[in-house]
Amino acid sequence: MGMARLANWPGMGKALRLAVLLGAAAMLAVPLQATAGVGKPVLERGKGERCVEDTEYMRRHHMDLLKHQRDKTMRQGIRTTKHSLKGCVECHASSKTGSVASTKEDFCAACHVYSGVKLDCWDCHATKPKKTPAPSTTQQTSPLMESQVGGL
Ligand code: HEC
Ligand code: HEC
Ligand code: HEC
Repeated sequence: MGMARLANWPGMGKALRLAVLLGAAAMLAVPLQATAGVGKPVLERGKGERCVEDTEYMRRHHMDLLKHQRDKTMRQGIRTTKHSLKGCVECHASSKTGSVASTKEDFCAACHVYSGVKLDCWDCHATKPKKTPAPSTTQQTSPLMESQVGGL
C-alpha cells in the first residue's frame, strides 16, 4: 500500500504537491529562525575581567571542561580549581536571585532551558555560592549544597 502511494507521487495533483513543499518549507523555517537568534537568552555578564578560558571556547566547550574536571577529581582525587563548578557558580550567580539556576533567567539555566538541556548536577551541587567563605585557606569547602535542592 505504501509503495503504491510512493509510486503515485508524480501523478499527484499540482496543488497537493505545492502543499507538501510548503509544509517542508515551514518545518525548515524553525531552525532557521533559531540560528537567527530569535528569543535567544539574555545572559548576565560574569564577575571579573574574563572567564576561565576564552569566552567563545567556553560557549562551546564548558561541558567538556566540567566533565574533565569532575573525572579528575572523582577518579584520581586530584583537586584543581581552575575549572571547578564552584568557581562557575561564584562568578555567574545572578545579581537578582544569587543563583545560577533557580529561574530560567539565571546564567546556567538560561541557555539550558532554551536548548532543552536538563542537568542533574544541581541534585547534588549548590546553585548558589557559599554565603560565608571559609577564613582558613586550608579548609576545603565542598560545592555540595547544604540546604537548597534542585535547579533548572
Ligand atoms: C550524585 C551527586 C552528584 C551529582 C548528580 C553530580 N555531582 Fe559533581 N560531585 C559530587 C561529589 C560528591 C563531588 C566531590 C566532592 C566535592 O568536591 O566536594 C563532586 C565533584 C565535582 C567537581 C569537582 C569539584 C568542583 O567544584 O569543581 C565537578 C567539576 C563536578 N562535580 C561537576 C559536576 C557536574 C558538571 C555535574 C552534572 C553534569 C555533577 N557534578 C553532578 C557529586 C555529584
Ligand atoms: C573569575 C570569574 C569567572 C569564573 C570562575 C567563570 N566565569 Fe564564565 N565568564 C566570566 C566572564 C567575566 C564572562 C564574560 C566574558 C566576556 O564577555 O568575554 C564569562 C563568560 C562565560 C560564558 C559565555 C557567556 C556568553 O555570553 O555567551 C560561559 C558559557 C561561561 N562563562 C561559563 C563558565 C563556566 C561553565 C565556568 C566554570 C567552569 C565559568 N564560566 C567560570 C567569568 C567567570
Ligand atoms: C551560552 C549558553 C550556555 C551557558 C551560559 C551555559 N551552558 Fe551549559 N550547555 C549549553 C548547551 C547548548 C549544552 C548542550 C551541548 C550539547 O548537548 O552538545 C550545554 C551542556 C552542559 C553540560 C552537559 C550536559 C550533559 O548532560 O551532557 C553541562 C554539565 C553544562 N552545560 C554546565 C553548565 C554550567 C554549570 C553553566 C553555568 C556556569 C552552563 N552550563 C552555562 C549552553 C550553555
